[in-house]
Amino acid sequence: MEPSIPTVDLEDLRAGGARRDVAAAAIREAFGRYGLIYIRSHGIDPSLLDRYYDVFLALTGRSDAEKQPLARPDIWFQRGWTPPNTEHAVAAGGQPDFKECYFAAPEAADPEAAALHPQIYAENLWPEGIPGFAETYLEMGRALHAAGVELLRGCAVALGLEDDAFVKAVEGGPHVTRALRYLPLDRAQAESGVLWGEEHTDFNLLTLLPGGRFLDAAGVRCPPPDPGSGLYLRTRSTPDEPGGTMIRGAVPAGCIIAQVGQELEILTGGAFLATPHVITAPKTPGYARLSCAHFVHLHPLETLFPLAPFRTPETVRAYAPPVLAGTYGLKTLVDIHLAPPSALDALGYRHYDRLDAQRVHVPGTR
Ligand SMILES: [Fe+2]
Repeated sequence: MEPSIPTVDLEDLRAGGARRDVAAAAIREAFGRYGLIYIRSHGIDPSLLDRYYDVFLALTGRSDAEKQPLARPDIWFQRGWTPPNTEHAVAAGGQPDFKECYFAAPEAADPEAAALHPQIYAENLWPEGIPGFAETYLEMGRALHAAGVELLRGCAVALGLEDDAFVKAVEGGPHVTRALRYLPLDRAQAESGVLWGEEHTDFNLLTLLPGGRFLDAAGVRCPPPDPGSGLYLRTRSTPDEPGGTMIRGAVPAGCIIAQVGQELEILTGGAFLATPHVITAPKTPGYARLSCAHFVHLHPLETLFPLAPFRTPETVRAYAPPVLAGTYGLKTLVDIHLAPPSALDALGYRHYDRLDAQRVHVPGTR
């Protein structure tokens, strides 16, 4: 039997009482078993999503040469345009993702955190000559973030934590909204099964997905070209199904999706499991897919380690050693090829040169 992923109504969380208990139970089941939930009463206007994709398409329709000034390896592509074949999923076969993306932060940066992680908190970049691009992008990011914060309050309730346990931990985090365009494949690529996005788990706390769009070869919105294309997730391993099951993301009308990221898995000692997911391309060449994802992150000075109620010898072993969320993010950006390996040199003691400079003055030590 095809498993059915629960839906949470944010209105139930707002209402409190027995309705909130129902919502909390849905969150426990959805995030505990699948790492994914459908959300109702999320406040994202469908016309906003249309406008968001319209301005993004106005950008992606430009030549790579025009987009190149917005591609910034110096800030690890954390703002502006990520060209195709740049990012690699960690857990997968090493194929670069077949997509182009845009990154912008909808919330004001925490100045202290920005000083600690200048690339991750870089100023937003905006393309010139596309009316409404920044405004629409920020409106979408803020709406998704607000829904995410509400859901995080529900997650805390569902886990028996203080209501604001997660909400406080994400204040000032490097939240980022991403627009993605999975590129049309040619016939050889479609037949060889090239993936749009290799199987991976997200490294942040919680990801919000307001819904993707397929475009046909003429660039016109169309239904999924074949039933095998789109978002698939892998369920938790069980004794009967050690590899889990791949389930198609089949979003009920009017809902958006939220997914558990690695940070939430670590804090909960795996009670909520980060969702392995993959974006499969259609078998028919020529189609593109648009997508939007908002990534809610912990503040970089939060510690990534199971919270006290989830600390057992097993979870401690599974998630050791503890690491700051900002350090974890930096390491992951290196792993997925957005930051250079040299970024890791910032971890650890960096003043060996000072000792060298002192020793120069001591006879016989050189
Ligand atoms: Fe993802």
